[in-house]
Amino acid sequence: MAIQRTFAMLKPGVLQRRIVGDVIGRLERKGLNLIGLKVMTIPPLLATTHYAEHKGKSFYDKLIEYIISGPVVAMCVEGDEAVQLVRRIAGPTAVTESMPGTIRGDYCLHTNHNIIHASDSPESAERELKLFFHPQELVSWDDGNGAWF
Ligand code: PPS
Repeated sequence: MAIQRTFAMLKPGVLQRRIVGDVIGRLERKGLNLIGLKVMTIPPLLATTHYAEHKGKSFYDKLIEYIISGPVVAMCVEGDEAVQLVRRIAGPTAVTESMPGTIRGDYCLHTNHNIIHASDSPESAERELKLFFHPQELVSWDDGNGAWF
């Protein structure tokens, strides 16, 4: 097991639907540590930088339009295998594939409003965390409960 940091982001609409607590609670209940959190509106340049690898894909324009359309909740989550775990808890991108019990499976009706982003690799996590957080905004902590998880 390796302690990792990953980047996750609750997309526009999650604040308005008032489900932030439930979504973050799922990550907390798993035993992951929330070590960075901010509400922000993403400037277009940050959006295109963040999603640069998808430029040219059929969904790209809609993705950018959506992600800058309202405030998001950006976060850093830390824990054993955090990158893969957060992806699993989020569920697959397509709403027809995301199972009940996953965040997307429980809250998404349309793939183009799939409510949560989660880094897909440790390398992406490092790159994305640098885009959204200053180092001093990430605060690792230990409650001594690690053994119980
Ligand atoms: S790919 O082609 O496999 O790399 O694409 P994928 O990893 O599934 O998705 C890349 C990001 O684009 C989002 N996405 C979409 N947004 C809007 N509409 C549609 N149809 C759509 N399909 C994919 C997907 O959610 C990924 O963004 P994040 O923020 O990582 O969820």
